[in-house]
Amino acid sequence: MEFKRWRNLGEILPEEVEEFIGSFFEREELLREVEEFAKKEKVPILLPSSAQVLRLIVSLKKPRKVLEIGTGIGYSTLNIYLAHPEAEITTVDSNIKRLKVAEGFFKRAGIPVETVEADGLDFLREALSEGRKYDFIFVDSAKGEYPFFNYKVQALLKPGGLALFDNVLFRGYVAGREHDGRYKRGVKLLKHFLKYIKEYPNFRAYLIGVGDGLLLLENLGYNRR
Ligand SMILES: C[S@@+](CC[C@H](N)C(=O)[O-])C[C@H]1O[C@@H](n2cnc3c(N)ncnc32)[C@H](O)[C@@H]1O
Repeated sequence: MEFKRWRNLGEILPEEVEEFIGSFFEREELLREVEEFAKKEKVPILLPSSAQVLRLIVSLKKPRKVLEIGTGIGYSTLNIYLAHPEAEITTVDSNIKRLKVAEGFFKRAGIPVETVEADGLDFLREALSEGRKYDFIFVDSAKGEYPFFNYKVQALLKPGGLALFDNVLFRGYVAGREHDGRYKRGVKLLKHFLKYIKEYPNFRAYLIGVGDGLLLLENLGYNRR
């Protein structure tokens, strides 16, 4: 099993399809090393199909200013960097232990990434109050918080900018796949997020059914209604 994570591979796609995509996905030695670390230490990282889509978007869009909420051990950050090394990346996580591991990987590879230990919502508030703007924002933190991140992320995007949220289909539960009661609140919050994400007329949202579900949001820069 080449790309097996500590958790089930098949969140939405059948496990063998996710695994096949993982074996197809060409990636650098450093990424394989981070995958090994994630498996050994049971730390969540992007699924292979999501990692590929993230790289595809970044390599096509070539964003200059990039913000990531949810660094983890830096796997997605490294995918962003490797897809477009000229990007200026700021990555935020509230878990200092994970952030330190990520910093170790960035340092060893000589990758210039700004790491910030903070709560995502606090960081977004501060960025807004300072008038910062981004070309690309990747959100992969606690999914229950997405409805509270939503409008702030939109306000931080430059016209033409893109935001990508991971885990929005939550194993398909959000789309009606059967689940047990303990996930009810999380599913409700994600449904709320998906309902209101399209509220602003100058944004277009795309729901991508890979990994655990990706939501791509585009700031059109004009009113589409
Ligand atoms: C799934 S992991 C991120 C995985 C990473 N994007 C990757 O693919 O390598 C989610 C991360 O979000 C962080 N997180 C959760 N809620 C957060 C919040 N409110 N603010 C900042 N970080 C948060 C967790 O500490 C965790 O490291």
